[in-house]
Amino acid sequence: PGLVPFHGARQAGIITDAQDRLAFAAFDVSPGVDRAALRDLLVGWTAAAARMAAGQAVADDEAAPQSPPRDTGEAIGLTAGNLTITFGVGPSLFDDRFGLAARRPAALTEIPAMPRDNLDPQRSHGDLCIQACADDPQVAFHAVRNLRRLAQGTAVLRWFQLGFGRTSTTSDSQDTPRNLMGFKDGTNNIKREDTASLDRFVWVGEGGDQSWMRGGTYAVTRRIRMLLEAWDRDYLLDQENVFGRTKVSGAPLGAAEEFDTVPLTARGKDGELVIGEDAHIRLAAPATNNGVTLLRRGYSYTDGVSQETGQLDAGLFFIAFQRDPRTGFIPVQRRLALSDALNEYIQHTSSAVFAIPPGVRDGRDFWASGLF
Ligand code: HEM
Repeated sequence: PGLVPFHGARQAGIITDAQDRLAFAAFDVSPGVDRAALRDLLVGWTAAAARMAAGQAVADDEAAPQSPPRDTGEAIGLTAGNLTITFGVGPSLFDDRFGLAARRPAALTEIPAMPRDNLDPQRSHGDLCIQACADDPQVAFHAVRNLRRLAQGTAVLRWFQLGFGRTSTTSDSQDTPRNLMGFKDGTNNIKREDTASLDRFVWVGEGGDQSWMRGGTYAVTRRIRMLLEAWDRDYLLDQENVFGRTKVSGAPLGAAEEFDTVPLTARGKDGELVIGEDAHIRLAAPATNNGVTLLRRGYSYTDGVSQETGQLDAGLFFIAFQRDPRTGFIPVQRRLALSDALNEYIQHTSSAVFAIPPGVRDGRDFWASGLF
């Protein structure tokens, strides 16, 4: 119980039932590291990740009492808590350092600047990423900490984000959680049972320009700060109009139950749209985005008090998986950034995009082996 298989055609942590906790890290490969050393890092990381996902320590240290322990130890005695460790590579890995330029998929393009962005470059981008999710925060933290330790001399942490509560569902069997604005989040997400939508919107198929990405996907991460003090002063009806859903039940405005079809064309007595022109679920809906949608798998975060404003630094660490960000996140976000009613209460403070290669087949395979 509590173990998610590490090996398989796809990486775990994408359509795996969203766990409660997140530890997400981006790394930069250190200057002077060559392609062979990068490959060695990925071989070592994969072996360590497979052990941790199986609920084991990175190494059995008792045999070497005179050496620094190879596992940092804080997960000893804890169960794996459905730990998944998902690996990705950023566009910057395909510059001239490793001779990989010709292997960069066209879909792995930097997310263009969006209206209202307020991005911190030190919390954005990265050569490599690790997404660790588990139902126990210490298990997720332990996974990233030990991979960082193995990267000593080869890669450095660029940024690190903890998430304390899932804000999405990725399966029909999960309850819909609430985000920090108090609304149910993930109702209309793609669910793992819906394999047709996954093939259409999430997994890279046969057609892609880079064969090493077949069976993989692309992750976009955005650290979206919520201006909670302003939100908490807004009246209930306006909060509901911002999303186009009822706060307590999660039902679309003009409908009765959470999972009812969103009545995008319904009009009230005066002829006005029940779900407003600028409501989040209208602007994000596939129906108004050429049929496109994303697999959302974000987490609530807090990093304490903002030094600039003295207010809570908290919000949504948005993670979305899609087969091509150029048709997925980028056009959807461009629309949201221009007209979403939610914009008054949020600010995007970091951005990153990563190619998520297919799964590690077995004990001899390793992350992104198709690149080497
Ligand atoms: C739906 C919250 C940012 C894409 C929703 C829903 C909520 C929500 C409460 C309705 C429930 C559901 O169907 O999941 C938020 C918050 C955000 C945020 C609080 C920022 C802090 C984004 C961003 C994107 C996005 C950046 C993509 C670029 C979607 C999509 C839906 C959705 C595709 C489903 C719409 C539908 O088909 O009905 N969001 N969201 N959201 N959101 Fe967001």
